[in-house]
Amino acid sequence: MPFPLTVNGIPHQIDLPGEVPLLWVLRDALNLTGTKFGCGVAACGACTVQIDGVAVRSCQVALSDVDGAVTTIEGIGTPDNLAAIQQAWIDHQVAQCGYCQSGQIMQAAALLAETPDPTDDQIDAAMQGNLCRCGTYPRIRAAVHAAAQSMKV
Ligand code: FES
Ligand code: FES
Repeated sequence: MPFPLTVNGIPHQIDLPGEVPLLWVLRDALNLTGTKFGCGVAACGACTVQIDGVAVRSCQVALSDVDGAVTTIEGIGTPDNLAAIQQAWIDHQVAQCGYCQSGQIMQAAALLAETPDPTDDQIDAAMQGNLCRCGTYPRIRAAVHAAAQSMKV
């Protein structure tokens, strides 16, 4: 029996074993390759997506355990209609190599949905599981603040 899965508002039927991690369903079955594989053991955050608005590590969620609507980096804005957080990331030129950034943005977007004007400490606490080997942490923090301000108006 295929598994029903809604991703970025689009319903799918996924004909894969239930134990396949959501990360590989997104990347290999749905060709949503913005979500990245880093460690596979919930230690880096590169694979972060949202399920019903909550940031999760998609490498650790089995297809059969997905119990809500999935949002990936491809689902939060378009080139013609960027999400505030995407614009802030561009304005602050956050990305260096870029590999970790989809996960960073999905984690930060979940933070802002719950905490619209986070302090530095709240940002650091929310983002601590998202690693960046390029060390973009100061720009991530600045961009989260900027996105919070632009979402107020
Ligand atoms: S690939 Fe999922 S946390 Fe690293
Ligand atoms: S931008 Fe290179 S790992 Fe984060």
